[in-house]
Amino acid sequence: MPTYSQQPAPIGIFDSGYGGLTILSDIRKSLPDYDFIYLGDNARTPYGSRSYEVVYRYTLQCVKRLFSMGCHLVVLACNTASAKALRTIQQHDLPRLDPNRRVLGIILPTAEAVGKLTKTRHIGLLGTVGTVQSQSYPLEIGKLYPDITVQSQACPLFVPLIENNEHLSKGADHFVKKYINELLAKDDKIDTVILGCTHYPLLQKKIEQALPAHIKVMAQGQYVTDALVDYLHRHPEIDAKCTRGGTVSYFTTESPDKFNSSASLFLGEEIVAKHI
Ligand code: DGL
Repeated sequence: MPTYSQQPAPIGIFDSGYGGLTILSDIRKSLPDYDFIYLGDNARTPYGSRSYEVVYRYTLQCVKRLFSMGCHLVVLACNTASAKALRTIQQHDLPRLDPNRRVLGIILPTAEAVGKLTKTRHIGLLGTVGTVQSQSYPLEIGKLYPDITVQSQACPLFVPLIENNEHLSKGADHFVKKYINELLAKDDKIDTVILGCTHYPLLQKKIEQALPAHIKVMAQGQYVTDALVDYLHRHPEIDAKCTRGGTVSYFTTESPDKFNSSASLFLGEEIVAKHI
């Protein structure tokens, strides 16, 4: 069993790339005093088209890395990792790595919130191939709200567009329209569309423009944040192990220069990342 530091430490936020920055940005608005470590596995992104085995292996490596940096609590700010790796990590790996550390995902908080937003009880999900194939959203939503119908649409080109900083280009419009049309063709009663990938808020404006005005777009950041704040209230023993200083340290598995320029653009603030 590895021995990780028992000293209080920042909260770990993990994503396959830049997408988790959209979640981190919302979390920091509600928890400005806490410290965070962000880890983007940009060298191996996208995860969305990879098998269960590979997403699990990559995610576990990154979680262990965050544990070895001291984190007691790690948020998988990635739907693909939450869908394909979270349960195994929680049930199989945590008991042997360190039963007192915690890893949380972002699908459940989103599923809980969507039931309060939809009026028609018909919702759409945009996600990676992996998240859609895993059926995690229809399963979680079905357990909580059996009256809701979920139609899913995989959008395999969204993450590469964003990771390559092409999401604001004209070329992106074509794929936004294509995926939205494919989703709406499956169900014309949809009134709420979940952005079920943490990268997609960077395309939110284009997605909203492509949708009829009565359809609401639901980004996850606020709901994940509310769930985290609630979690820390309910678990004072974990909360006590999270340091307060209002800092964020950024780490990427790719070149830090590339990460710095894209991440600074996405977040609208200067970022200096380190390579791991
Ligand atoms: N941001 C991730 C998600 O929420 C995954 C993107 C990817 O690596 O494919 O699903």
